[in-house]
Amino acid sequence: MTAVHTAALAFDRFQRLSDEDCQERIRAAKAALGQRAVILGHHYQRADVYKHADLTGDSLKLSRLAAQTEAEYIVFCGVHFMAEVADILSRPEQLSILPDLNAGCSMADMANLAKVERAWRELSEVLDCDEQVTPVTYINSAADLKAFCGEHGGIVCTSSNARKILEWSFARRPKVLFFPDQHLGRWTGYQMGIPLEQMLVWDPDEPMGGLTPEKVRMARLLLWKGHCSVHQMFQASHILRYKNQHPDAFVISHPECNFDVCRLSDYVGSTEFIIKTIAQAPAGTRWLVGTELNLVNRIADQFKPEGKIVQFMAPTVCMCSTMARIDPQHLAWTLENLVQGKVVNRIQVPEEEARLARIALERMLQVS
Ligand code: 13P
Ligand code: SF4
Repeated sequence: MTAVHTAALAFDRFQRLSDEDCQERIRAAKAALGQRAVILGHHYQRADVYKHADLTGDSLKLSRLAAQTEAEYIVFCGVHFMAEVADILSRPEQLSILPDLNAGCSMADMANLAKVERAWRELSEVLDCDEQVTPVTYINSAADLKAFCGEHGGIVCTSSNARKILEWSFARRPKVLFFPDQHLGRWTGYQMGIPLEQMLVWDPDEPMGGLTPEKVRMARLLLWKGHCSVHQMFQASHILRYKNQHPDAFVISHPECNFDVCRLSDYVGSTEFIIKTIAQAPAGTRWLVGTELNLVNRIADQFKPEGKIVQFMAPTVCMCSTMARIDPQHLAWTLENLVQGKVVNRIQVPEEEARLARIALERMLQVS
């Protein structure tokens, strides 16, 4: 029987534990591991897991933290692409671990290497891509797409540095192919003054992205037809209704929201930016927030004592259901296995792919 098989069997017992029982086991395993393990937690993580994180942040901050930590085990309470970035940026002897391998990102799944390579081939029929197009991938993407960018003079961006990254890209080549989030790309391009007519959607399921050669030649920013299933739930009508009832309220949104939502918001930025902006706001202010529910609930509780009213933008529950797969049971199972010297759910990017992806990630870290 292999170690992995033993560990997998062991999870059955954890699955039956209550959330409360897991809390104590997580604390005990963390204490036993000491400095050997660091738990990184994204802001969307559910509260009963987030509270165990040693370090928290948005995607940019977490990539930097992963590159800096000395711990032997990086336990990532986030989604798959984040654990991949941790593996790529950490030293070879450090191990990146995702407590539940089903914690993916539906947006990241909207682009894959075969489709991006096809787009590049089709664009090459009309343009000299190596001279004219910078591929830019949002960090919410698989490692092989980051490797594609590394190999083709491209770069990675996050929601907090997208503008700097696009400025860097346009300083090198006149056009950008941006994947997989059309909304982040469009909002960033708009902020930079690129006319909407020069930002065209590339539909990967249509020949030539659904565009004519003339349109491809005219476009400056080609936006992959992808989006976040959570952030697409926020609508301009939610903001208009709220502003009607509370004209003094501020609206703050994540740039994965659609263009109308971003345009109607007073502030647009990453999860870290959202937290900091509300933290620095005067006491007694009112906020409507367009991002994932776990984070909005946490901010609402945190700033309630200052009399700040923080409300969720959508009338329905919008959670990142994939991130929520990392529950106390999976975290307890992962940590107890580590205490016993068993590594479960290691995320390991193949060496050559990691080398190329690192080029694109390091370009990003330098530029931002
Ligand atoms: P941040 O980098 O702003 O934390 O965003 C990550 C993400 O996946 C948002 O949906
Ligand atoms: Fe992916 Fe959306 Fe979840 Fe962010 S909120 S991790 S983009 S599915």
